Amino acid sequence: LAISLGVALSHRLSSPSSESLKKTIIDKCEAFIQNNKSSSANDCQKIWSAFEQAFVGKDPCNVPMEAYDLLIHTVIQDPVCNRMLFWSKTKKIVHDFTEKTDCFLTLEDTLVGFVMNGLTWCGKEESNETFTTGCPGWTDCVNNTVRSFWNRASAAFADAACGDVTAMLNGSIATPFSPTSIFATIEVKRFKAAKMKSLSVVLVTKENEGTTCDDPSLKDLQKEIDPKLKYNCKAVPESKIQDCISQPDTACGACW
Ligand code: APR
Repeated sequence: LAISLGVALSHRLSSPSSESLKKTIIDKCEAFIQNNKSSSANDCQKIWSAFEQAFVGKDPCNVPMEAYDLLIHTVIQDPVCNRMLFWSKTKKIVHDFTEKTDCFLTLEDTLVGFVMNGLTWCGKEESNETFTTGCPGWTDCVNNTVRSFWNRASAAFADAACGDVTAMLNGSIATPFSPTSIFATIEVKRFKAAKMKSLSVVLVTKENEGTTCDDPSLKDLQKEIDPKLKYNCKAVPESKIQDCISQPDTACGACW
């Protein structure tokens, strides 16, 4: 009787989907710490609790990015000056690159970015449940649970930007510095000249086509950043980056 009561009670307190999201997040958090000893001061249980309080019981379209402040402050993350890599519309090639080489780190290579990458979650008003399906999509409402998380995590990543900073942008699209992207709306606006030396844009191009460093949107980017920061831009063929991905021992400075 005690066992079945216990089971019934635990089902009432948290649904199976809450339990599986919690397990996924704690497992990924612990795996990250295993592989990144510099993160070992983190407590995955504490991180889960801070994460959960951001959205449980709330309308999933009404979670502002500030709801994740506690989570961001709970995570202990050392900045890696000179190795931070920002990106926009280049998700696949950027992460293929950071996975194979040890040159740069993106938000998705930090604890909080790694743990949440690929996940969907939300809560519901007057409910203590956590859902992983039926949540609002990225553009369904501005303040949705998932989008606000990425906005807040991106803000923290940009706040920490130091030394020489790199951004990989897409030279195969009309507007590589897209004014509605997280990179433009959040990250660039938070770059601090007191901590940073330079911003280097790597414009990933298809062979001899697409946009160049003279693109008007990149001029806009240059205008956005503090004039005390050095700015440079280099168009790099995608094939060259692919070569570096397939020869991971290439020196970090030699890829572009
Ligand atoms: N629908 C679903 N997901 C979207 C959408 C959308 N309309 N727009 C953006 N996303 C999510 C996707 O996961 C996508 O891969 O955000 C990711 C990045 O979007 P991009 O438009 O490619 O780039 P950007 O908005 O600039 O965000 C990337 O923010 O995550 C940080 O530090 C990271 O510098 C990086 C930047």
